[in-house]
Amino acid sequence: MEKLYGLIGWPVSHSMSPAIHNHAFSELNISGHYHAFPVSPQGLEKAVAGLRALGISGFNVTIPHKVAILPYLDELDLSAELAGAVNTVKNSGGRLIGYNTDGQGYLQSLKEKAGELQGKNILLIGAGGAARAIFYTLSHAGCRSIDVCNRTIEKAAELIQLNPAGTFGRPLAIQEAEDILSKYDVIIQTTSIGMKPHAGKSPIRLYNAKKTCIVSDIIYNPITTELLKQAEEKGLKTVNGVGMFVNQAALSFEIWTDRIPDKKGMERIVLDNLG
Ligand code: ATR
Repeated sequence: MEKLYGLIGWPVSHSMSPAIHNHAFSELNISGHYHAFPVSPQGLEKAVAGLRALGISGFNVTIPHKVAILPYLDELDLSAELAGAVNTVKNSGGRLIGYNTDGQGYLQSLKEKAGELQGKNILLIGAGGAARAIFYTLSHAGCRSIDVCNRTIEKAAELIQLNPAGTFGRPLAIQEAEDILSKYDVIIQTTSIGMKPHAGKSPIRLYNAKKTCIVSDIIYNPITTELLKQAEEKGLKTVNGVGMFVNQAALSFEIWTDRIPDKKGMERIVLDNLG
């Protein structure tokens, strides 16, 4: 019988997850189908119960449910426990197990462009579920410091206080981060600012960034966000969100099926769809 997989988020209409996962199923001759389900914040608990009742084999979790879903799962893999957020759920004999592939997926894509991160000063913008997963993974990558700036500074402080691997970092207001931007070797944008349908805005201005700074945005739709446009105008190296999107999806796919999907084909689909 065809296995059911999916995505829950709000909104999900722009997601390319169905296209890339269904491509991977068909490439590997796996009888599976992946569907995007729009689930409002109020509907999350019932949606998870419904997916469980339907016997879904696995699903992804996106904005705004990555942290909110924790109480509705039966077990957390270490990747999700440490990140405090879930982007992948596997149904293992009726038990829903939460994983997080955002951090590893992101780190793989950053390293492809930026090389090793030893000794680098990092600025993370945002303090939500995706930021937390990336923060945790980066703090084990040997960076010198990871500062976190966020609209709500208290949430940035909470992240810093987790202090995984003893990495040094400070919580900052956006304006404070802008003032000391020349300190950073890598700037990582994890908020929803700049994403369709809210494109055209940037959470931070780059006027103080140094020439060698790498600017990265985890948003992949649009490929070039307002922030990355600013960076390109200043001649800075940029990393868009396509690599992270494909890598986190491939890691989810492996968790569900124990098979390695066609990442190049998945990336091609994303790039073709984005035009
Ligand atoms: P995700 O799980 O995908 O990270 P999230 O947990 O809802 O999503 O986090 C969203 C992030 O985007 C947060 O850092 C949020 O800032 P706050 O902590 O201040 O809410 C940030 N964000 C969302 N909308 C924003 C806006 N209009 N201006 C500034 N930051 C925003």
